Amino acid sequence: MSIKDSYEKGWETYESIHRLHLKQDFINKDISLSLRLFFSHFLKGLIKGSLALDLGCGPAQHAIALAKKGFRVLAVDYAPSALKLARSAARQAGVMHRVVFVCKDILELRFEKEIFDVIIDSMCFHHVRKKDWKVYWENLGCFLKRGGYYILSAFSRGGKYCKIRERCWTLRYGQYSRFFAKKDIFRLLKGQFDVLVLRKEYRGGWALWHCVARRRGTVPSA
Ligand SMILES: C[S@@+](CC[C@H](N)C(=O)[O-])C[C@H]1O[C@@H](n2cnc3c(N)ncnc32)[C@H](O)[C@@H]1O
Repeated sequence: MSIKDSYEKGWETYESIHRLHLKQDFINKDISLSLRLFFSHFLKGLIKGSLALDLGCGPAQHAIALAKKGFRVLAVDYAPSALKLARSAARQAGVMHRVVFVCKDILELRFEKEIFDVIIDSMCFHHVRKKDWKVYWENLGCFLKRGGYYILSAFSRGGKYCKIRERCWTLRYGQYSRFFAKKDIFRLLKGQFDVLVLRKEYRGGWALWHCVARRRGTVPSA
């Protein structure tokens, strides 16, 4: 099973459990520590209507939270079942007019240069294989405005479920996941970004990195 199929099935299962057994919609209101840090320290100064991109949005709790703050958001995921949950959650939150959902592989996205003020990746990058990193990071540099924010949450080494000694990735049920050390995060961001905040969080046996970074370079004046 591919990682895409595995997520497609996973989100379908969430939906059916909630709809059939709990008689309610599946809505995830739990936003990442990285986005909470962004909201509390860096939101000021971004004008209403700024453009955000949510990579691997899943049920879109982050896209919805950004839309509620006034952002216009493009939320991307390649699992149609995730987008079904996402659309229903956005409708219920009353932010459908501010979020556009796209069913696509994030590595195949193409945009005009530097259009986003904020790009969030919550738990998607750690599924991107190393051979695809070049495309991922080149795209980030292309799509994010200079001075724009990159908000990342990704697996860290050291959680109970990551007892990896000899290698830093796992392949389970078709899902490739990579676990990062602190120095990996700095190495990945080096050159293009300044790391503004980096926190480690232990959560139910997992360890996660939460990072807010800013793309280097001054914003060209209009
Ligand atoms: C762990 S979930 C995270 C969902 C959500 N961002 C959150 O924080 O709860 C990862 C999501 O990324 C999506 N995904 C993984 N790789 C992707 C890719 N290459 N292109 C588009 N979506 C991808 C999966 O379908 C899944 O919905």
